Amino acid sequence: MGQSNKNSNEQKENIEALIAELNHHRERSLLGGGEERIAAQHEKGKMTAYERIEYLLDPGTFREMGPFVEHRCTEFGLEDNHVPGDAVVTGHGEIDGRKTFVFAHDFTVLGGSVGEVVADKICRVIDQAVEAGVPVVGLNDSGGARIQEGVDALGGFARVFKRNTDASGMIPQISCIMGPCAGGATYSPALTDFTFMVADTSHMMITGPDVVETVTGEQISMAELGGAAAHTATSGVAHHAYENETDALDGIRRLLSYLPQNTMEDPPRVKAWDDPDRACDRLTKLVPTDGKKPYDMVEVIDVLVDKDSLFELHSQFAQNMIIGFARLDGRAVGVVANQPRTIAGTIDINASVKAARFVRFCDAYNLPIITLVDTPGFLPGTDQEHSGIIRHGAKLIYAYAEATVPLLTVVVRKAYGGAYIVMGSKELGADRAYAWPTAELAVLGPRGAVNILHRTELAAADDTDATREELIEEYREEFANPYTPAENGYITDVIDPRQTRSRLIEDLDLFAGKRGERLPKEHGNIPL
Ligand code: HXC
Repeated sequence: MGQSNKNSNEQKENIEALIAELNHHRERSLLGGGEERIAAQHEKGKMTAYERIEYLLDPGTFREMGPFVEHRCTEFGLEDNHVPGDAVVTGHGEIDGRKTFVFAHDFTVLGGSVGEVVADKICRVIDQAVEAGVPVVGLNDSGGARIQEGVDALGGFARVFKRNTDASGMIPQISCIMGPCAGGATYSPALTDFTFMVADTSHMMITGPDVVETVTGEQISMAELGGAAAHTATSGVAHHAYENETDALDGIRRLLSYLPQNTMEDPPRVKAWDDPDRACDRLTKLVPTDGKKPYDMVEVIDVLVDKDSLFELHSQFAQNMIIGFARLDGRAVGVVANQPRTIAGTIDINASVKAARFVRFCDAYNLPIITLVDTPGFLPGTDQEHSGIIRHGAKLIYAYAEATVPLLTVVVRKAYGGAYIVMGSKELGADRAYAWPTAELAVLGPRGAVNILHRTELAAADDTDATREELIEEYREEFANPYTPAENGYITDVIDPRQTRSRLIEDLDLFAGKRGERLPKEHGNIPL
């Protein structure tokens, strides 16, 4: 009895000592690069990797993977510089009760640089996310490839890129840039589905300002070259920028709320908070019957969809095209729309690419696509032609034509020429193509058509301008309306704008079970 008590006490002491040792190891790991570097991180207005993950995930749900992994580099003094967990925190948790994998670069450890072991930790997260059918969120704050590890670091990045590519279309991948993101490191976020940035504290660039100056002689600041404004408005690399880190992390939570966990699932439907049959009287005032007058298509979308549900993406880039997620009677949908307020809603290269990639995303993740059309056509001009509007415009055609999700299209006003075809027309596969009474569908806009069809007559006319205006009016009455295409079967129905919301909701119900079948092939060859 005495002996057994002694054994039991010894056992207790031993296990307590072992647990104390575990806690010590864990505390060491949680401290990353140490208190000084954590303070420096905070001084820059940045959270640490653990703080970011804690904020992103539902409280208490984070489970870390590999907190004690260490690098194996023995060069450049790294043999004496080991931090358990190395420069990335990896694991999984929940967002609104739904599982999510996550990795966050730890800038306090060797500037969040990516060596062999860091890359392997990230690869493990992506591999397991694919196996579990769960999204991955990457919080990027890194000096890029770890210089001391040489080609091992480059190989590590290559492994991450391969994982990003293999996971593409299987699970949603979301990136948030929360510090530097340099060199090849930028390509991992670029391979994911959506990239957010934080204003002022995040930068993305292939080469920094010093290299730019050396090679081209151009002097440019880091912010101008690769800051949030540059990438949300000019390059289109990032989909949205937030004022601060917590807003950006809230943005990720919101984005995921529209998405399924993987390609095999439908997006989650939430309890509706807006009347599906709500009459949308405002629509009759918002869209001017005069085709030359602009208006804000975002307002039209806001009226149509469930109240406050529109989550616009890429709002600063290619503003002539609108993309975003929204809800109709609680169902998540993707919305693609021309924006007549910006260059009259013409479609240029950036607008084509922006919409095409979004359509493909929606198609991969079972999100029905609502397309609102008001465009006079593709943007004419040498710059667009020589920059490849044909090649890039073809991407949008390709994306719609291969889509198998429910496609519901509404021609609000103008739908001319190639732009009519490309914006989710019935012939490209739309399940429903409605037109409002304000719609005008034709090969060319009235002015362009009259100038070509009546060239001789106009040249001979006494008053060319007056004759032209008369002919334009005739053309408009004859062709530029929804009834000729409706007679020919190109339009499912001409509808009262006020009924659009309820019709779309009915159609989403009707096509909820739509499953596209395709003949087997390796993959198509989208005109990249
Ligand atoms: C190793 C790095 C590092 C890196 C930063 N550090 N980047 N260590 N490899 N790539 C270390 C710094 O030495 C420093 O360590 C600590 O991280 C913090 O960095 P600071 O420079 O003090 O911070 P800051 O002033 O905020 O500048 C951050 C930075 C800068 C802009 C990221 O560190 C920088 O320019 N780093 C190099 C970026 C780069 O060129 N990366 C390689 C890209 S090529 P100490 O101990 O001094 O505090 C690439 C190829 C991939 O990625 C190709 C894949 C196909």
